[in-house]
This record gives sequence, C-alpha cells and structure tokens, in this order.
Amino acid sequence: NDQALIDRFNRRVTYLRMSVTDRCDFRCVYCMSEDMTFLPKASVLTLEELAHIGSTFVELGVQKIRLTGGEPLVRRDVMSLVTELGRLEGLKELTMTTNGSQLVKLAQPLRAAGLSRLNVSLDSLIPERFRELTRTGDLQQVLSGIDAAKAAGFPSIKLNAVIMKGRNEDEVLDLVRFVLSKGLDLSFIEEMPLGAITEHDRASVYVSSEALRQLITSEYQLQPMLQQTALGGPSRYWRIPGHESRIGFISPHSENFCATCNRVRLTVEGRLLLCLGNEHSIDLREIVRQYPNDRAALKAAIVASMDVKPERHHFDLDDEPQIVRFMNMTGG
Ligand code: GTP
Ligand code: 5AD
Ligand code: SF4
Repeated sequence: NDQALIDRFNRRVTYLRMSVTDRCDFRCVYCMSEDMTFLPKASVLTLEELAHIGSTFVELGVQKIRLTGGEPLVRRDVMSLVTELGRLEGLKELTMTTNGSQLVKLAQPLRAAGLSRLNVSLDSLIPERFRELTRTGDLQQVLSGIDAAKAAGFPSIKLNAVIMKGRNEDEVLDLVRFVLSKGLDLSFIEEMPLGAITEHDRASVYVSSEALRQLITSEYQLQPMLQQTALGGPSRYWRIPGHESRIGFISPHSENFCATCNRVRLTVEGRLLLCLGNEHSIDLREIVRQYPNDRAALKAAIVASMDVKPERHHFDLDDEPQIVRFMNMTGG
C-alpha cells in the first residue's frame, strides 16, 4: 500500500478506534463525572459519515477497527454501521469495547453482522460494588450479556478491569478465577488521568501491573507471552499453564507502550485524535461535510495527520489531569 499510514517515528497505523457516541447508560467513576452533559445531535457524525470515514481508513491500510463510545450499543441503529463495516474487504478485525449492558439482546446480531471480537468492561464481581463503580450498572445484566456473547460464538471475549487500591484491588484473584472458568481473556488496566473526576484521587488508588502480577503469582504460575500481534492494542499478555485464557496488563504508567503504537482514534464529533494522551488532532467532520461523496480530500488529510502524531503520552498522576476531555469522548 503506497499510501500506508506511517508517522514520524516510523510507526505504522493499522488500528482505528471509532467512538460512535459519547453517551452511556453507566457513569463509571474513573470515566465520567456524575453530572455529565452530552453532545448535541448536530455536532455528532451520522452513521453514514462514520462508515465513510471507516472505509476510507481501510483503503489507507487500516486492518482493524474498534467501535467504542461512550457505550457503542446505546447509539440508535448502530447495527447498520457494524453491518456496513463488516462487509469491508481488507478489514481483518472489526471489534467493539462495550459495558455489556445490551449484550443479552445484541450479542447474536453483532456476531451475525460480522463483529470478530468483543471486549467487555468488568471491574467487580460483587453486585453492590459493581453498582458503586458504575453508578447505574447492574452486574447480573452484564454477566448474562457475557454468557450471551459466549453463546453467540465469539472466538475471543476479553474483560477489561481498571484496578484501584481500596476499591477493587481485593478482587484481582477472583477476576482471574472467573475468566479461567469461563474461558475468557482479561486485561488489567492502570487508570489514566483523563478528565477531572471527583470520586477518588487517582494517585492514591494507583496500583502497578507489577504489583498485580505479584499478587496473581501467589496462586498461579504466570508465563509471559512474547509474541505480540501486529494488530494488538497496548495489553501485554501472560498465560497460566493448563489454561487458554490470556491475562493482559495495560500499564501506561509503569511500562510505557507508545513505541509500538499502531493506532489513532476518531471522536464522534469527527475529530481525529492522534494520541489518547495529547490534544493533537485534525477535524475530519468539516471535510466529510464539505465533500460527502469524495474520498480524495479526506485521504489527503488523514495521510497528512501522520506528521502530527505525538511520540507518546506524558500522563502524570501527581498533577491535575492535563487532558480535560473525559474518557467517554474517545472510548479510551
Ligand atoms: P485489543 O484489540 O483487545 O488489544 O483492545 P484494546 O486493549 O486496544 O482496547 P480496549 O478498548 O479494550 O481498551 C483497553 C484499555 O486500553 C483502555 O483503558 C484504553 O484506554 C487503553 N488503550 C487503548 N489504546 C490505547 C492507547 O493507544 N494509549 C493508551 N494510553 N491507552 C490505550
Ligand atoms: N483509565 C483507564 N481505563 C479507562 N477506561 C475508562 N476510563 C478509563 C481510565 N480513566 C476503560 C474502560 C473500558 C475501556 C475502553 O477503557 O474500563 O474498558
Ligand atoms: Fe499511542 Fe498515544 Fe496511546 Fe501512547 S498514549 S500508545 S502514543 S495513542
């Protein structure tokens, strides 16, 4: 592909994360403020515009698209976008990160529409605590959703758990046991400072991935998996002998992974963010609204954006968050 997306640090972009809505039926404490206001409809890309941008990225060599939110499954008619993207030749993986609340009803149609994998956020297996961390979520509904996704035949389902000292650190082994028993994968995530949240002080709830691995090795043997796939995200995986599950760690603070970054993200307002931890972006909405049936200008803008992709994030938990946008604007 002569127009391959390669940035100034010689990283090839093959993975596009598309936020399809900033709305969510949960209010997770690390992601949103309690009184979040959402975007007006006119500023949000239509599903057609999202499909147009997604397919243009595929023409430029992107091989993996992840749909995120907010909660992607609360966007009305999102299934039509999944179907459209699912048809694209050249796309090797079409994936989604969801809170799982709608999966009982939607897992099967998503699979049928061509979604290849699913990541589901799950930070606690204790109902009252799950409610506290999500402010509105129902644990049983999400667990049933995960079972529905298994039954729908997704070859890989991964749970995401943001671990916070004093909040859910005591559930690390329970979460491992849970994924082993269900044949799921799991990523443990170090919380990132996006948006000013009020529920806890991020520095004081911080736990490193290394500390989690120590904890897990009290009960299980952990073997590092050296093979990272070309289309992978930031998780670094380990396995437990005798089990299929992969146990991953996303460690923005303790093990920076930016040198192998292969991704960019699109906000639902059509801002292409070149890095989660920086504000460098270009406006694609303006271009798709000016030239709705033409890809040339859009392609040129995307190719040119590679020159402003930053080298890395500079997250610092001891400072006020430098990034004021909340996580729901990009889905992480
Ligand atoms: P896989 O395809 O399964 O590897 O997915 P993923 O881990 O890339 O995506 P997911 O949406 O499940 O995100 C899990 C966590 O990784 C979230 O906390 C994201 O914010 C974080 N994450 C994903 N990509 C990046 C990135 O480029 N930079 C940083 N700092 N965090 C990221
Ligand atoms: N830090 C780290 N991960 C976060 N997520 C949401 N907010 C944060 C944050 N501040 C996670 C969610 C979801 C994924 C897309 O991002 O748990 O699984
Ligand atoms: Fe890539 Fe920025 Fe994420 Fe680092 S923080 S992995 S450079 S998007």
